[in-house]
Amino acid sequence: MVRSGAVSRPRIAAVVGNRPQFVKAAPLHAALAERAELVVIDSGQHYDPALQAVFYEELGLLPPAHRLAVGSGGHAAMTARILERIEPVLVAEAPAALVVYGDTNTTLAGALAAAKLGIPVAHVEAGLRSHDRAMPEEVNRVVVDHLARLLLCPSDVARRNLAAEGVTAGVHVTGDVMVDAARRFGPVAVARVDVAERFGAAPGGYVLATVHRDANTRPDALARILRGLAALEQPVLLPLHPRTRAAMDAAGLVAGGAVRLLEPQGYLEFTALLVGARILVTDSGGAQKEAYLHGVPCATLREETEWVETVDEGWNVLVGQAPERIAAAVAAPPRGAGARASYGDGHAAERIATLLAP
Ligand code: UD1
Repeated sequence: MVRSGAVSRPRIAAVVGNRPQFVKAAPLHAALAERAELVVIDSGQHYDPALQAVFYEELGLLPPAHRLAVGSGGHAAMTARILERIEPVLVAEAPAALVVYGDTNTTLAGALAAAKLGIPVAHVEAGLRSHDRAMPEEVNRVVVDHLARLLLCPSDVARRNLAAEGVTAGVHVTGDVMVDAARRFGPVAVARVDVAERFGAAPGGYVLATVHRDANTRPDALARILRGLAALEQPVLLPLHPRTRAAMDAAGLVAGGAVRLLEPQGYLEFTALLVGARILVTDSGGAQKEAYLHGVPCATLREETEWVETVDEGWNVLVGQAPERIAAAVAAPPRGAGARASYGDGHAAERIATLLAP
């Protein structure tokens, strides 16, 4: 049965595959489902229930029509498996566009497969740059931005980054869909005030930490970071990404001091822990931005960030892996001023959906 008007709705595909992409997809897929026939493809890059299923559940995400189930592997193997498995899906579904998110191997493989098939690529979170090509994510971003036909920038800095590379066609500053997600789910998360207490930490009195980047899970870097966290006076809650747990086991590293290792947390639990933290210590891109959105100080375990506005506005300091720099940030958390409005007004998803399905 064909619903009246259904024929005029464009078919839009979107590929997701890991934790931050589920968060970004939640507001956009809801907005797109109202205007388009949405086909969700999950690459399976993240497959642990704590990194995947809990996000579908908590965020009310539309279930995927296609699961590519690629699992883990080296960059080349993983990217190649996604490429190989997504192509027949894109051929069969023949969408008017493929939406890709952020900077992961799922983003790169989806964009490459679609571009070769002549399917326009829409890149959500276009134009971010760390200017560090040693990061796998930077390589993914640059390539995807040069393949995309619709470049959806979270901020004007991102637009300028693209202009500096000669990319000006199809560029729109829409704001960031993570602002939409924070607005939508923040109040639900904040209501879960007891999450920190469950882990023996008092609201406002603990440090929340996350570590998972390639460069920070190498033995020397990880050992320095763990030493820095163990030297802190305050309790440190450290939800462990499977990659980091594996790296600690392989290098024989343990957490000392007042560091408490937790299982990976769902989106609502993590947000509840974040809003109650004295400071976030992280190498995650998304978490730096979420801290800024919720007005929580952040120390970033890198020497550069793509989210430069968070640093410029005084909410984020770059501390690398140095224990003394971590300690200094925790002793005097960076607290900026201003409206924290650099990433839009919480209506990015509507704008993007309208661009994709006018
Ligand atoms: C990926 C993204 C990174 C993003 C992060 C969010 C790339 C290049 N990187 O990094 O930008 O910030 O997701 O979490 O795409 N593993 C499991 N279970 C899982 C998934 C992974 O045990 O469900 C383990 C595997 O040993 C795997 C390792 O974690 O080899 C790393 O996973 P991978 O997907 O390669 O990269 P992330 O570190 O998650």
